[in-house]
Amino acid sequence: MDERVERIKNKITAYPDFPKPGILFRDIFSVLQTPLVFHDLMAVLEEKVKSVCPDVDIIMGLDSRGFLFGAPLALSLNKPFVPVRKRGKLPGELKQVSYTLEYGTDVFEAQASSIKQGQKVVIVDDLLATGGSMKAASELVKEMGGVVALCLVCIELADLKGRDKLKDPCFPFMSDLNVE
Ligand code: PRP
Ligand code: ADE
Repeated sequence: MDERVERIKNKITAYPDFPKPGILFRDIFSVLQTPLVFHDLMAVLEEKVKSVCPDVDIIMGLDSRGFLFGAPLALSLNKPFVPVRKRGKLPGELKQVSYTLEYGTDVFEAQASSIKQGQKVVIVDDLLATGGSMKAASELVKEMGGVVALCLVCIELADLKGRDKLKDPCFPFMSDLNVE
């Protein structure tokens, strides 16, 4: 096992019954509190993009935890960063998609001009649970004329089988987190 991934896993805290009873919440913010481990995480993500889609055009981050990793990744790859936001937060002409996630429903929006026809997009998020958010973002990219090159997530809650919902490549690098 990559020792960087081991260090990252060890930083992720699990909170039972948050935000609702029965949900074991995986808190990735704890990774950002140790710069060495945040560097590890960014390096792993960058390597994955360079190996799977070296010719990526756009890095897209999902509101809000996807912004933590998507924006610095875009900067280090020298590519544009495009945010997908929850309803009502973005100005201008928008494209919209509704979706369900592990503990609710919501609407995602992106600025209509942020992706050009045929551009290759890597969608970044912290975690894949039911896959509802990532599937919706991927539909949004396609509706905007883009091509989803990679769904890039750090944590997969494998029991929820979110990956089965996705038509595009997805390579989570942490699927076997402990309960503590
Ligand atoms: C969380 C997480 C993913 C999504 C995963 O976001 O950051 O985006 O849920 O769940 P799914 O696979 O079932 O769709 P959340 O909507 O809680 O927003 P946040 O990032 O602002 O906390
Ligand atoms: N988003 C959806 N399910 C989640 C979970 N169990 N932990 C953290 N974020 C989530």
